[in-house]
This record gives sequence, structure tokens and C-alpha cells, in this order.
Amino acid sequence: MTTAGVPATRLPVWRALEAHYQQVRGLHLSQLFADDPGRGERLSLEAVGLYLDYSKNRVTDETLTLLLRLAQEARLAERIEAMFQGEKINVTEQRAVLHVALRAPQGESIHLDGKDVVPEVHAVLDRMAEFSQRVRSGVWRGATGKRIKNVVNIGIGGSDLGPVMAYEALKHYSDRSLTLRFVSNVDGTDFAEATSDLDPAETLFIVASKTFTTLETMTNAQTARAWSLAVLRDEEAIAKHFVAVSTNAKAVEAFGIDTANMFGFWDWVGGRYSMESAIGLSTMIAIGPDNFRAMLAGSHAMDEHFRTTPFERNLPVLLGLLGIWYTDFFGAETVAVLPYDQYLKRFPAYLQQLTMESNGKHVTLEGATVDYATGPVYWGEPGTNGQHSFYQLIHQGTRLIPCDLIGFCQSLNPLGEHHDILMSNVFAQAEALAFGKTAEQVKAEGTPDWLVPHRTFEGNRPTNVILADRLTPEILGSLITLYEHMVFAQGVIWDIDSFDQWGVELGKVLAMRIIPELASETEPALAHDSSTNHLIRRYRRLKGT
Ligand code: F6P
Repeated sequence: MTTAGVPATRLPVWRALEAHYQQVRGLHLSQLFADDPGRGERLSLEAVGLYLDYSKNRVTDETLTLLLRLAQEARLAERIEAMFQGEKINVTEQRAVLHVALRAPQGESIHLDGKDVVPEVHAVLDRMAEFSQRVRSGVWRGATGKRIKNVVNIGIGGSDLGPVMAYEALKHYSDRSLTLRFVSNVDGTDFAEATSDLDPAETLFIVASKTFTTLETMTNAQTARAWSLAVLRDEEAIAKHFVAVSTNAKAVEAFGIDTANMFGFWDWVGGRYSMESAIGLSTMIAIGPDNFRAMLAGSHAMDEHFRTTPFERNLPVLLGLLGIWYTDFFGAETVAVLPYDQYLKRFPAYLQQLTMESNGKHVTLEGATVDYATGPVYWGEPGTNGQHSFYQLIHQGTRLIPCDLIGFCQSLNPLGEHHDILMSNVFAQAEALAFGKTAEQVKAEGTPDWLVPHRTFEGNRPTNVILADRLTPEILGSLITLYEHMVFAQGVIWDIDSFDQWGVELGKVLAMRIIPELASETEPALAHDSSTNHLIRRYRRLKGT
């Protein structure tokens, strides 16, 4: 059993990295490339269908050697094995972390408390596949005998972001006769807009919630129930229009969904790591079981890569170490993820939960306050749209924002010159960010002196370029898993629990206290502060009925 690690700053190599940072912080990427004409090829690697060019990072060979030593001193290899062996590495919840088992091929074994979990995983996958086929083929019908044309996933956080991201990412492979919708926000607008043009007799709801207690999801599910019954007028109809995905059979039953229509998963799958469990049922219905299994195969291949590849050629480890270099030594506060593919438009939102709910922690596994920065803010938008909005700040602002640019060599929708234009932007942006434009170059173009500073690009802005041939289910699986394991590798080095999320609790508890106060006539609880009391009073006065 592996125990807690050592706070990162107490690892011997940390001091060496600090000293090294002082030596190289002023080095410009232009210099690094001039000194090593082969840098672009040398600092790149390819695995599991992904090509990573990390040459435009502010690192020397010594930086990489020291970062790799950091991974060793943090005993990353041991911790990776502990995860795969089903040890309870989520220490604050005393749980194993086995999302890797969700994509383990049949015949492989992963043991948890002496029991092989892989057969259960495949039993659920088989049930999901059978159900998906019935919906897709029209064998599963609504209570009135109408074919199901609409599938609405109700869930939030990990029970929404993964499914909606994967649906959008793999839309090209989806059955276009089905309409997929995703309701997450407790704002009634979300439900109202998602269902306004749907016929309850043709609509299937998937209530997706690991705990089946989440207020937003339960509220939306009750509303969906009422919305269906208002037309179908028969409680029995619920069985044909509602299925559940959860680890909590009791709560599913209490809600009124037959557990025969429930797809289970396990407490060793964290919410934000659950899109390849039964939480992915909506994805499977949209793209079909074969494509879903192909996505799992891509993830599994990345799992194997992560587990077995030496760190200097290990994609998630390298990405993780480079992130730590900027976060902890350069003081970078954020990372921008910039997919140059419209199908990946929800990928940054998905990554936000994955990275920030996982590594937004301030204490070590032993509970000591860290004296170093942990998870950075992740944000992003599809690339070319971002170029016409926030890239200005990345190019010429005062902050260092490392960027991941993600692109594909082949378009799924080849249209004239579109794809060359799109991809030229990936390469051009990475080039401009790295090398910029000097004042001399700007002057040489005949720019008047007063305008030169405004038109000068300092450059030296680091990027990773991730390229794949084509956006397929396999590639999506490996891309997701690349980031999952990057997050884990960083969490190990920061010595934090990447698999709990206590920080979301306080707000939930306080909201439960305030809900009745908003409907009440009496004064808000004195226990609130004057600001909260005043806001509640104002809301009550103005909300209408
Ligand atoms: O509030 C955060 C969270 O617990 C996430 O971690 C999780 O993905 C989300 O809520 C939804 O939880 P559930 O699937 O249990 O409804």
C-alpha cells in the first residue's frame, strides 16, 4: 500500500528546479531554436494516435532532465501502479480510483478488494449496448407505441459534461434521426428550452446521477416526470420514458424508476471520470455501441501507454511536468485549451471540471497546507474564434498563458479550402506565440517609431501542439485519457487528492438553508451576514409570484 507522498517543495530536486529556473527564465524560444535546428523534431513524440510537439516550450534539455527527476522523486511510477492495482488512492474518501477498469478489455483482470471488477464492467456495457440498439432500431417504443426520437440526458457536472462533450465531439458518427439534448442547469430555462419542441410520447429521459441526490438533477428529473405525465397521463408510462444511470439503486427506486431500467456503476468511478461508464449511455445511443467501444479502446491504449512507457516518452507525464514548470516556477495562473475543431467545442468546458475539480486543492494528502501553487485555471474556446477575441491578451498581454492547440490533419467535413485555412492558423499561432516579431522587424516594415511598441510581439509564449490524423472515437478516447492521466501525474507531484471535491459542499449546504427562506414571509435568518440578508430581502420583494 502506497502512503501519502512528500510535499513537492520538500523533494530534493525542487531546489534544483528553482535554481535552474533563475538561469533559464530569460531564455527566448528564438534562441533555443537557433541553437538547435533539429529541436522541432527532437522535442516531439507520437503515441496512441496523438502527435505532441512540445518543442515550443521554454525548456532546455536540463529542464526536462530535472522535471523527469521530479516525477521520480515524487514516486510517480509507484503511484500509477497503485491506481491500476485498485489501492484506495482517493484517501479522503477511502476509495479506489479505477476508471481505467471501465475500458479494460474483456479477459483482462483488475482486482478490487480481491474481486475482479472487469466482468461487471462488461456486463453493464452489454446491457447498455442492448438497450441502445433497441432505442436506435425502434424496438424500444414509448408508452403510446411511438418510436423514440428524442433522448434527453438529465445530469450535471461529470454526469453532463462528459456526455455532452462526447456527443458533440462524435456527432459525425451519430444517428441523425435521433435528437439528443442535455439538461443540467437548475435554471428552469434549461429544461424549458431543451424540451419546448419535443413530444413527450417520443422522448426518453436518461436521469444520470452517481449519487441520485444532486439537487439540480433531481429537480430537473421531477420536472421531466411532470412534463411527460401532463401528456401521457399514466404513471405506467414512466417505465417507457425514463431510465436511470446511478450507483444508488435505492434512490432510483424511490424516484419511481424501475431498477430494471437502471444502469449501474461503482463508487470507484469519480463523477468527472465517469463518461465511459453507464454515464455515457446517451453517447452510446447517439453513436452506437461499436463506436462507443472504439472510444474505450482508444482510452485503454492511452492507459497502457501511461502505465508502461518510460516517462521521457510518456505523453501524460510530459504534459503534466510541463504544466508544473509553468505553474510553479513561472507563476502562470492559467492554461488555455484551444481546439481547432468545431466538434470539440465543449472540450474546454469538459476539461475545466476534469482539471479544476481534481487539482483545485490546497492541502497535501496528509492535510498540510501546500506552500506551492497547485491546479491552474483551465479555459478555452475553439481556436479561430478565440483568435478574434481573447488571443490579443495571450500575444501581447502581461500574463504568461501556456496554450494547448489541438488539431486534425483530415477534416470530417472537407469543404473547399476550409481545412487548410483552419490548420494554417494552428501552425501560425504557435509560430507567432513562440517567436513574435521584434521591434527591428516592425521598424523595417516602415512602421513609424511611435507605433513600433504597439506592433511588437515579444513572443516566448509556450504552446503544445497536439495533432491527430482524424477525429475518430478512438482518438477522442485517447485525448480524454491523455488529460485524465496528466491531471493524475500532476496531483501526485503536488501530493494532493485529485479524486475528491470537498470544495463544492459548503455552497450546496448553504443553498439548502436559503431555499425555504426565499419562499418564506419571515425575516431571513439572523445567522446570515448583512449582505446575504439584504440580497434575500430584495429578491423576495421583487421576485413576483
Ligand atoms: O458537485 C460536484 C459533483 O459532485 C461532481 O463531482 C459530480 O460530477 C456532480 O456533482 C454530479 O454528481 P452526481 O452524478 O452524483 O449527480
